[in-house]
Amino acid sequence: MKTVNLGQGIEQLTVDIKDILFEGLWEMPKGVTLNSYIVKGDEIAIIDGVCGWEGVPEDLFKLFDQLDIDIKKVKYLVLNHLEPDHSGWITEFKKMHTDFEVICTDKGAELYKAFFGEDEVIHVVNDTSEINLGAGKVLKFLTTPHVHWPDAMLTYEVSSGILFSCDAFGMFGTFEQSTIDDAYTDLEIKAYQREINRYYSNIIGAFSPFVLKAIEKCKGLDIKMIAPGHGLIWHQRKDWILETYTHLANNQKGDAEEEITLLWGSMYGMTEEVVMAVEEKLKKSEIKYYVHRVPETSWGEILTSVWTSKGIILAMPTYEYKMFPPMAAALEEIGKKKAHGKIAFRFGSYGWSGGAQKELDEIHEKLRMGWNFVAPYEFKGRAKQEDIEHVLRQVDVLIEKVKENS
Ligand code: FEO
Repeated sequence: MKTVNLGQGIEQLTVDIKDILFEGLWEMPKGVTLNSYIVKGDEIAIIDGVCGWEGVPEDLFKLFDQLDIDIKKVKYLVLNHLEPDHSGWITEFKKMHTDFEVICTDKGAELYKAFFGEDEVIHVVNDTSEINLGAGKVLKFLTTPHVHWPDAMLTYEVSSGILFSCDAFGMFGTFEQSTIDDAYTDLEIKAYQREINRYYSNIIGAFSPFVLKAIEKCKGLDIKMIAPGHGLIWHQRKDWILETYTHLANNQKGDAEEEITLLWGSMYGMTEEVVMAVEEKLKKSEIKYYVHRVPETSWGEILTSVWTSKGIILAMPTYEYKMFPPMAAALEEIGKKKAHGKIAFRFGSYGWSGGAQKELDEIHEKLRMGWNFVAPYEFKGRAKQEDIEHVLRQVDVLIEKVKENS
C-alpha cells in the first residue's frame, strides 16, 4: 500500500490486490488496485475506502501517520458507492474514530445503514449539492445510478478539477512504475487494454446505457484528472478513457470490433475435430480471433473476448437432449451481462438425438440477446469430410458478415 500526492492537499492511497476472485467470481490474472483518496481543506474528507482484506485497514491507517493526518480529524467519509470493495474498512474505521459524517446518495444511505448501522450522521447529496471543506476545497457530486450499483455517484473537487469516479473509468491490473497514466507510453497503455476490457465487460458492461448517461453528465465539468476506484489515474489520457468507455458501452449495441470469438466444448472429440479445422480457417483468414474452451476457461476470460468481438462461433455437442452444460452456463452468463448484437454461428455433434440447438434458442430468446445467427449445422457422430466442408463454408459466411458490419 502506498500514497501518491495528486496536488495541494489531495492524496491517493492505493493497495494492490492479487490472488482473489473479484466479487468472489471474476478471475483477475493481473490483479487490481483499490484506490482511496484524501482531500484536505480546513476539514478532511476521505473519498471511498478500501475493502477489509488481510493487511487492510491496518496498512491504511499507517499511511495516515505517514501523511501526518490524525485519523480522528477526518470529518467526512464520501462514499461514491457502497459495494464492500470500497466500504469494507468502515467497520474497522469506526473502532478508531466515530465522530465523522457520511456523504452519499439516498440509495447509498439505505445501504450504509444495512451494512454499518444507523449511528452516523448521513448527508444525502444530489447533482446540486456542494460541500465546502475550506481552504479552497469544494466537493460537488454527480449521481450516476448503476455505474455500478444503484447508489453510485461521482465526486468532483472544484479547485483541482479532479473527478473521483469510483467504478467508472476503472480497470483491472496493478502498476509498478506509477499510478498515473503520464508515466506510460501509448504502447504500454495498449498492453493494458485487455485489463480495461476485462474490468468493463465483467463488472460494468451490463449497465452500459447508464455508463453512457454518466459520460454525458461528465461533459459539463472541467476535468483535469480522473481518479477512479480501480486502476490508473487518467491525466494525459482523460479524454481517451472517456472515449474508450464510450466505445466499450457501444459494443453492447453491436458496435464491436472486427474480431471473432470461437467458444467451444467437446466430450469425446467429435466436435473438437471440426473446431480444429475452424481454427485453421480463422488463422488463414487473418481476422483477429480468440479461442476459449469450456469448462476450462473462466467466465471472465470468455466474457472479455465476447464483449469486443463482433462475431461469435459456438461449437458444442448435445448432452442428454440439451446443450453441453458448461456451454449453456457460459451462454447464460454472457446473456445476463447483456453482450448483445453479435453475429453468430453454431455447430456441433450429436449421438442419440439433437437438443443443443433447442436450448441455445431458448437461452437466446429468454435473455433477449439479439444475436443474428448464420444457419446452424449439426452432424451425427464423427464429422465426415462433407460436414467439415459445410461448417467451413458457414464460417466463411460469418467472417464476411463480420467484416461488412464492423
Ligand atoms: Fe469497485 Fe462496484 O465496486
